[in-house]
Amino acid sequence: MTPATRCIFGAAVVTIVTLGGTIVTARRAGTRDTLPAALTFSNAAGVAGTLTEGGSFDESNPFFAELGTNGRTCGTCHRPAQAWSITPGEIAARFDRSAGLDPIFRTNDGSNCEKADVSTLESRRRSFSALLGKGLIRVALDVPSGAEFEIIGVDDPYRCGSRLTSASMYRRPLPTANLSFLSAVMWDGRASRPGHAIKDDLIAQAIDATEQHAKGEPPSRPQLRQIVDFELGLVAAQVQDRAAGSLTAAGARGGTSTIARQPFCIGINDPLGMRPAMPGACLATSIKLDPVVFTLFRAWLDAASPERQAIARGEVVFNTRHFVIDNVPGLNGGPQDPVSGPITTGTCTVCHDTPNAGNHSVAMALNIGIADPSRRTPDMPLYTLRNNATGEVVQTMDPGRAMVTGRWRDIGKFKGPILRGLAARPPYFHDGSGTTLADVIAFYDKRFRIQLTDREKADLLAFLSAL
Ligand code: HEC
Ligand code: HEC
Repeated sequence: MTPATRCIFGAAVVTIVTLGGTIVTARRAGTRDTLPAALTFSNAAGVAGTLTEGGSFDESNPFFAELGTNGRTCGTCHRPAQAWSITPGEIAARFDRSAGLDPIFRTNDGSNCEKADVSTLESRRRSFSALLGKGLIRVALDVPSGAEFEIIGVDDPYRCGSRLTSASMYRRPLPTANLSFLSAVMWDGRASRPGHAIKDDLIAQAIDATEQHAKGEPPSRPQLRQIVDFELGLVAAQVQDRAAGSLTAAGARGGTSTIARQPFCIGINDPLGMRPAMPGACLATSIKLDPVVFTLFRAWLDAASPERQAIARGEVVFNTRHFVIDNVPGLNGGPQDPVSGPITTGTCTVCHDTPNAGNHSVAMALNIGIADPSRRTPDMPLYTLRNNATGEVVQTMDPGRAMVTGRWRDIGKFKGPILRGLAARPPYFHDGSGTTLADVIAFYDKRFRIQLTDREKADLLAFLSAL
């Protein structure tokens, strides 16, 4: 069974219950079907926590109910212990416990190919290798009608034999916590419709998730509202660091409780001053630009503990360390992009600009090169796309937003995700190619030729692990 857990607050009694499945959690004595408002779970970097605005985790919420026909719930892939994403470690443990029959192991999107052989234990191990290895779910989308491109070839390691009018993309479950900071829903923003409120997008997303992942009919309106209210009330973050201790000690503002009080509007602190016309967007007057995006650990800059100091210095590196940001399609990599030419004084916060949440505060899909053919590993497909008008050809492991808009210039673009609860939910990036946070830092160091010193890398790692 999964990690030791305990309550943050109050006189909770620890017992074993199921929160949408098979985890060990804590429950207050004398209540039924509700869990305390705060849960904590240990991970490699310390302890992660999750809070709900609803006052208690209501296990009877349809988020935890089988809404479809294949035994799955939203909680099958969105786990409280893993900041409401899911890790390969959890998936492997579930495979072993269930001989590969747990509801996450379904061929509609859990297996490498739709028509996978799942007849024996060994065939299941092979058929679910992307899920077991990197926690990847197969997202199959058709090339949009009227697209500016065609897929003219695929080098598919799994030989699924799919038609070239669609693409299978292998993606990490995004967390269903801290969603009040969202500016776009899904890695490629496909659940977001221009001009619509994020809450409406989340309702559309929940319908889609039930149809696609759970093979069910759309939930009822009241059920959809319950699911979305539940998701929007969840916050998750690291609360305790193995080396530095409580992330709220001595003036620090890490952990879960400060997130709920963090103001947000779409476009907040955006360096390009973008304010989309949609509900939830900032008023012009509320846009204040500050490259200092994270202000959680300032108080530790002169802490006695070297571990606390490292986290505080890492926050400064994230906010202020300059490097050149160049050739990022969606930002400054093409003629239609909002910035022309290199940003010479870029920081991590140019893209991760939402205060203390770290996602991009506007819907602005970017191609930072995660799906580039140069980074290809043998477990990923490689698609060849041809531009209908120009005949130009490009290769990518995942066409990203282009499969939503049909636009050539959107190939390889993804959203900048929320950066909280990171330690609880490796691996990172849409394709799980960042096995650890150190790998993520190494990616950026190389991609933008930052030349971080060993100490800057270590400090940044300490900081990201404490989010
Ligand atoms: C089989 C695993 C699985 C199940 C079951 C599942 N999800 Fe997800 N979820 C994912 C994956 C994978 C993504 C990211 C896919 C992408 O962006 O292309 C995701 C993304 C999301 C997001 C987007 C978050 C963001 O930051 O944009 C929300 C919200 C969400 N899921 C809610 C739900 C709800 C509600 C249910 C139940 C109705 C559900 N999920 C069931 C795997 C799952
Ligand atoms: C040019 C914009 C940009 C800059 C600069 C940038 N990021 Fe990102 N970041 C992104 C995008 C876009 C993604 C999602 C990419 C993907 O998965 O395809 C991302 C993903 C991440 C993730 C993975 C989160 C997850 O849930 O998997 C981490 C961690 C991260 N960035 C940290 C950093 C750090 C640290 C820096 C500075 C060294 C930085 N980023 C600079 C745009 C940027």
